[in-house]
Amino acid sequence: MHCRIVGVPVQDGAGRMGCEMGPSALRTAGLVAALTELGHTVSDLGTVVPAPARRLVHGNPALKALPEVAAWTSAIAEAAYVASADGMPIFLGGDHSLSAGSVSGLARRAAEAGRPLFVLWLDAHPDFHTLETSTSGNLHGVPLAYVCGREGFRGYFPALHAPVDPAHVCVFGLRSVDPAERQALQAAGVRAHDMRAIDEHGVAPLLRAFLEKVAAANGLLHVSLDVDFLDPSIAPAVGTTVPGGATFREAHLTMEMLSDSGLVSSLDLVELNPFLDERGRTATLLVDLTASLMGRRIMDRPTRSL
Ligand code: ARG
Ligand code: MN
Ligand code: MN
Ligand code: MN
Repeated sequence: MHCRIVGVPVQDGAGRMGCEMGPSALRTAGLVAALTELGHTVSDLGTVVPAPARRLVHGNPALKALPEVAAWTSAIAEAAYVASADGMPIFLGGDHSLSAGSVSGLARRAAEAGRPLFVLWLDAHPDFHTLETSTSGNLHGVPLAYVCGREGFRGYFPALHAPVDPAHVCVFGLRSVDPAERQALQAAGVRAHDMRAIDEHGVAPLLRAFLEKVAAANGLLHVSLDVDFLDPSIAPAVGTTVPGGATFREAHLTMEMLSDSGLVSSLDLVELNPFLDERGRTATLLVDLTASLMGRRIMDRPTRSL
């Protein structure tokens, strides 16, 4: 596989500073070497620079940095469209507002190729707020709603070339959902697996069912990995920790099953805040998870049925 690394040091969507150091920490933790050791070729496309921000006024007074995040979104969408011409783009965030751009650029590419884009959103949160329903005002809470074409973004965020069908989205690892999001996820028909479902069934059957849908539709699959998908005890470097997240083995199993599926066509690594890390352990874990996604194995073959 040819991996195309894109650095996206956006932090305006998070409630605190630090995510702009994320791409640097992921590079420092050895992402390129890990991919190269697995036999992939890698080109680093460098760093996205936001478009100039223009004045935007919105009726929700809580919203923070709307002009800046909108400007980042256009630049990231263009970069994602270009990076996805061939090979596998890997977007290094940056807070999760990054995915408003990455997913919209990838959806445009998929639509031109005549393939449906599926999205696996690995996150404690669904990030399914509209500009109206956000109460924190942090715009990393809206990207999934935007790319699914929910109302209220027109005139603020760039117009979408191709919205993602909510029925093609699986949100996995949920444990913090605001009331407006819960209602909207259900109405939109997003497949949403909370931690209780993972406790009850385990990662494997839930993920397998979604991957079968992707394969049956000949879909492309984008994976958006928010650090807070992981339990804070193994991944402290995130501004929005929520207890009870995916364990080390659940996270690796997720990545290994994705790897076995052969369906993943692009990846976001988001919300890493190196200012909150402990000697780089969260950045290192993200590199190891990416390696599992890209083919690293404990034994030399996938697990077979017993
Ligand atoms: N739902 C909360 C909010 O809107 C949390 C969002 C967290 N998103 C994230 N990408 N960490 O503020
Ligand atoms: Mn998120
Ligand atoms: Mn989150
Ligand atoms: Mn479909």
